[in-house]
Amino acid sequence: MKKTLRGAIVGYGFIMEKGHVAAYRERMAASRSGVREADVEIVAVADISPRRRELAATQLPGVRVYADYLTMLDAEAGKLDFVDIATPPAEHANVARAALSRHLHVLCEKPLATTIADARDMLDMARSSARVLYPCHNYKHAPVVQAVRKVIAAGDIGRVHLVTLQTFRNTHARGVAEWRPDWRREQRYSGGGIAMDHGSHTFYLAFEWLRAYPTAISARMSTMGAFDTEDDLSCSLRFPTGVASAHLSWQAGVRKVLYTIHGERGAIRVEDDNIEVARLSVDGEAAGAQSQWKFERIDVPSDWMDSSHVTWFNSLFDDFKRQIAKGEWVGREAEEAFLCVQLIQTAYESAKAGSRELPLGEADAESSSVRRKLRLQC
Ligand SMILES: NC(=O)c1ccc[n+]([C@@H]2O[C@H](COP(=O)([O-])OP(=O)(O)OC[C@H]3O[C@@H](n4cnc5c(N)ncnc54)[C@H](O)[C@@H]3O)[C@@H](O)[C@H]2O)c1
Repeated sequence: MKKTLRGAIVGYGFIMEKGHVAAYRERMAASRSGVREADVEIVAVADISPRRRELAATQLPGVRVYADYLTMLDAEAGKLDFVDIATPPAEHANVARAALSRHLHVLCEKPLATTIADARDMLDMARSSARVLYPCHNYKHAPVVQAVRKVIAAGDIGRVHLVTLQTFRNTHARGVAEWRPDWRREQRYSGGGIAMDHGSHTFYLAFEWLRAYPTAISARMSTMGAFDTEDDLSCSLRFPTGVASAHLSWQAGVRKVLYTIHGERGAIRVEDDNIEVARLSVDGEAAGAQSQWKFERIDVPSDWMDSSHVTWFNSLFDDFKRQIAKGEWVGREAEEAFLCVQLIQTAYESAKAGSRELPLGEADAESSSVRRKLRLQC
């Protein structure tokens, strides 16, 4: 019989309630009714907000609630296998260190950490504690992204050398009303604005599509509101295999993702749930005539408008479980999360230096070893 993983939650806010716990509750209900084998049980929750703790206790009957995660980890010693972290980013590293030092696996929301030093420390601790550190890079599990993966793998557009990624939001995402709904606009909790909030999703998709890791970044940021975190980022990334450019904004007129992926023989455009694949027609190529493309449009419902992304969580959690079963303490996902944090921090430095292009990883032993290892996997 497979082991049921006993989990504790730290941070019972929006994404935890609507994304992670909604999926856990479904899994737990399915195992109670015999539809699937039991594989997860949430036994404890820590949140600093009394009203969020009350809600957790009603949504997860029997769960033990705590106002402080250190008290929870001590009180629950011997009764836990993993900790699922969804506090604001500035606290991720502290919670992860506390969990890893108690030999617990860690599932952590993005960004993994707000500084390179913290991210490196988390990877080191996972290795030395022999426990899995796994980031929630959930866009990889979106049906539309999985469909793009298939088109690229089929060789339809050839090798990809150019990627553009745009994420438009008409406001910063708001956290739950019971705590500080606008923490994304407060540096001390968020560590930064839209670059910190959405940079990870943007960068790990670019890694996948360009089959490589970037060597340099230049970035420009602006803050249009009266806040201490930026609400607009544009950046350009140099890869050994090509280039990526990204524009992320909380000042857009609509909520939307727009990605374009360009290869030798065609391109893919993603606009929320819609994919358009352009394939260079063989006739046009052979005749040396003006290029001709055949266009195919595919709809892949992906629930982009539901920011809990609950429908993507089960496949992410399955991956976390697989890594635990394999004893893969620091896998590709964690190493990519480290590179995302490195890119985000370097983007801030570039923006401060007048958008100067800055190299990545040259003077950084951890980062170059991560890159070497990942290059082999690509
Ligand atoms: N992967 C995604 O698609 C996605 C989507 C939304 C949010 N997130 C990430 O999830 C995290 C939380 O975001 P959110 O939108 O759910 O925020 P939120 O404000 O809704 O929730 C944060 C919760 O953490 C609690 N909290 C704050 N400090 C704490 C501490 N020290 N100890 C225990 N609890 C604490 C708050 O009381 C609140 O309940 C962030 O890292 C964010 O980037 C990811």
